[in-house]
Amino acid sequence: MSPASRLLVDIHTHVYLPRYAAFLRSRAAVPRIFTRTSPEGRQEERLLILDDEPSSGRPIGAQYWDRDEKLKFMDLHGIDVSVVSSANPWLDFLPAPTAHKLAGELNDDLETYCSTGPALTPSLKRLYGFGLLPLVPEASTESLVSTVEQIATLPHLKGVIMGTRGLGKGLDDDALEPVWAAIEKAGLVVFLHPHYGVDKHAWGEKENGHVLPLALGFPFETTIATTRLILSGVFDRYPNLRLLLAHSGGALPQLSSRLASCIDHDPLVASRLAHDARYYLGKLYFDAVAYGSEELGFVSDAIGRADLYARAGTSAAASGAKGADGGEKRRVGSGRMLFGTDHPFFPPLGAQEKWKSVVENLEAIDGVWGWTEAEKDAVRGGNAISLFSLGS
Ligand code: URA
Ligand code: ZN
Repeated sequence: MSPASRLLVDIHTHVYLPRYAAFLRSRAAVPRIFTRTSPEGRQEERLLILDDEPSSGRPIGAQYWDRDEKLKFMDLHGIDVSVVSSANPWLDFLPAPTAHKLAGELNDDLETYCSTGPALTPSLKRLYGFGLLPLVPEASTESLVSTVEQIATLPHLKGVIMGTRGLGKGLDDDALEPVWAAIEKAGLVVFLHPHYGVDKHAWGEKENGHVLPLALGFPFETTIATTRLILSGVFDRYPNLRLLLAHSGGALPQLSSRLASCIDHDPLVASRLAHDARYYLGKLYFDAVAYGSEELGFVSDAIGRADLYARAGTSAAASGAKGADGGEKRRVGSGRMLFGTDHPFFPPLGAQEKWKSVVENLEAIDGVWGWTEAEKDAVRGGNAISLFSLGS
C-alpha cells in the first residue's frame, strides 16, 4: 500500500450491481441488456442504454458487475481505493414506486459491496460508494428525502450520483429544494453525471458511433445542468452543498467568463445571484477525467480564479482576480480536482495490460505544468481522502 499521502483514489468508477443488471436483462425496451450471437458465432451479452445508439449496443461483461473484476482492475493500475457509483441511466426510466423501492435495495446492496470488501487499514476500506435517489417524475419529496436519509445511515456510502433530469424538469426545478437541503444537511457529496447528451443529429448526418455523444454530448449536458444550478442560485442558498462534476465540468471552465458577461447583460438574472458567475466554480469539485495535461491545467486555473473572486469580494474581484499570479491560481485550483477512470467504460480495443484511458489520465496529472508533486499527489488521492473523509 502507498503511504497515506500518496494513495491513488478513483472517484469516477461505475458498477451495474447484480440486482440492476438482472433488472436490465428482464427488459425488452431501452435501457436493457440482451444476448445475441456474435459475428464469430458466440453467445454474448450487449448493453443498450442510449436512446439513439446503434441497436447493436456495446459489449458488456463481468467487469460491469463483479466486485472481483473491479478489484483486479484496481490492482492492475495501482488504485488503492475506489468510490464506486451506479452507471447511467440509474433509475431515470422507472415509475416512481419502482424507483423508490429499487433505490433503497441498491443502496443496501452497494453498502454490502463496499463493507464486505477488502480493507487497506482497520479504518480504510478499498471500496466506498455513491448511493442512488429515485429522481423520476412523480417522485414525492418524502421518497427523495427519506432515501437521502437512508444513504446517510450507510457508513460506506459517501454521496449520491445524480443525472441531469431531476424530476423531469431539470436540476433547477424548485421542487428539488428540499432534496438539496437534505443532502447538504447529511454532508453527502453529489456526483453529477451525464446520460442524455445532445441530439445526435445536430448539425450533421454522418454516423460516428459513440464518439459524438460521449466526447461532446456528455460534457455539454453537464455544462448546461451545472449552469442551470448556478443560475437558479442553489449555491447561494446551500453554501455547504458539495457537487462533484464528471468529465472535469465539461465546457463550464472554458465558458465561465462568457457566462458571467451574459448574466451581467441580462435583466432577468443580473440581480439574482450574490456573486459573479466565476465565483461558483470555486464551490464545485471536478474529476480529472480530461485525458490531457493542458485541459487539467486550464480547469485548475479557472477554479483558482474563483477562489480569488471569493477572497476579493464581488466588486473588486474582476481586477484582483485577473491580475493575480497565474501559478497561484493553478495551485489553488488543483485542490478541487480528483483522479477518476470511468471504469468499466472505455476498455482497450485490443489486448493490452493497462487501460489506455487510465494511463492517459494518470499521465495527464503528472504532466500539468505548475502543479508541485504534493499537488499532483492530492489530485491522485489526497483530495478524495479529504472530500469524502475516508479513513477517519
Ligand atoms: N458511457 C456511458 O454510458 N457512461 C459512462 O459513464 C461512460 C461512457
Ligand atoms: Zn462515468
